[in-house]
Amino acid sequence: MAHNTVVVGLQWGDEGKGKIVDSLADRFDFVVRFQGGHNAGHTLTVNSHKTVLHLLPSGILRDDVTNVIAHGVVLSPKDLVNEIFSLEQNGIEVFSRLLVSMDCPLILPCHIALDQARENSLGKKKIGTTGRGIGPAYEDKVARRGLKLHEIVEPDYCNARIDEIYDYHNFWLENYYNTKPVDAYIIKEQLREFTEFIQPILSDTVTYLHDQNQRSDVRMLFEGAQGSLLDIDVGTYPFVTSSNTLAGAVTTGTGLGPLDINEVYGVAKAYTTRVGSGPFPTELNDETGTKLASRGNEFGSTTGRPRRCGWLDVVALRRAIKLNSVTRLYLTKLDVLDQIKTVKICVGYNETTSTASADRWEHFEPEYEELAGWMLDTSNIDTLEKLPPNAQAFIDKLEQLLEVPIASISTGPSRDARIEIEPLSATT
Ligand code: GDP
Ligand code: IMO
Ligand code: MG
Repeated sequence: MAHNTVVVGLQWGDEGKGKIVDSLADRFDFVVRFQGGHNAGHTLTVNSHKTVLHLLPSGILRDDVTNVIAHGVVLSPKDLVNEIFSLEQNGIEVFSRLLVSMDCPLILPCHIALDQARENSLGKKKIGTTGRGIGPAYEDKVARRGLKLHEIVEPDYCNARIDEIYDYHNFWLENYYNTKPVDAYIIKEQLREFTEFIQPILSDTVTYLHDQNQRSDVRMLFEGAQGSLLDIDVGTYPFVTSSNTLAGAVTTGTGLGPLDINEVYGVAKAYTTRVGSGPFPTELNDETGTKLASRGNEFGSTTGRPRRCGWLDVVALRRAIKLNSVTRLYLTKLDVLDQIKTVKICVGYNETTSTASADRWEHFEPEYEELAGWMLDTSNIDTLEKLPPNAQAFIDKLEQLLEVPIASISTGPSRDARIEIEPLSATT
């Protein structure tokens, strides 16, 4: 059987999953996206060149990797085409190394209009979505109304389905949100061109991945998007995304079985960030928060919005480690803490609860442990011994609190800026 590894974010997204997946990808034959959509923004930095991926898996910069978008992903045809073209313009061959599931639900312009109309109507209570139609597209899937990729090949049938979907959503847009309806003509035209474009890489990825899974010489990496605290079921509801973001979603999002997963790597920043609204117990609305944001360059990779910053929350992290069965931890952005005099870690709240509901989280008051900062440059350090003693003490403390091995520490955006603590063996 193949060896299968999942990489997931353990916080509110943007933990550095793209960098980790890209740096690991040379050990894998396949990199597979299994949930989310182009709300994701995964940044890869290779030889000082930055690439931000939204839909394409982060194995795309590795020549020998086949990249798969499985059916758990909601797909915006226009954004997929743009992303492929933009990479190919930069000399990266994408088309011959990409497969897309024919069962992906499509994100249509009416979903985007609805996402935005809803956010506008919520005013101060808005979720702060990426405005890319992710929620409404997943809702259509669950409502058994959504348009799947394989349905677009027969134009008359496809147009009739689009009319049905648009009739429904335009009713809400006009009568509930008092906004303009969306014209179905544009998407019908776009899909006509897209059908021809996508045909060569359309795939029954369930069968394909199962076939690969039979081979003992194959290694597959499943790349999560968003983060565990944004999970629709166990995240800080309702301030979450609309998919399951946990490692378990690999099974529903690809069709492989739970016992096909061998390893789960969790990615966490050495502090915490969040884009959009919702509770954030360790948030720093002070000079330290500003320092983290500027040193960490904390602006959303998808929307450019400033990310809220705060201390590392070990309570939330321990919960995420359990929810995902994490076997190895990848700690990122240690270098961002370099100029912080006293580093704090949240080790408890004023109350104990495991609820995910946002209204409970609002009442959490963090209890902190304080550690002396290292005040030395760690960027691009590549061995544990070279880390300043106070940075090593910070790592030791985390391992003790998290009870999972920290396998690797990232010390800069570039692919190779990392300290391998527990090198991967030949079989993992
Ligand atoms: P993702 O969504 O989890 O892939 O993360 P993003 O790409 O949205 O955000 C992570 C940001 O941090 C990107 O700008 C990365 O280039 C950057 N990054 C990743 N690892 C490190 C690190 O160890 N140090 C620093 N300074 N930046 C990092
Ligand atoms: P990556 O994969 C950070 C957030 C949005 C908003 C909420 C719902 O780059 O880590 P949505 O558009 O999904 O309905 O928005 O989820 N969000 C992310 N935050 N990183 C992401 O992806 C995110 N994808 C969605 O900001 O709060
Ligand atoms: Mg991101």
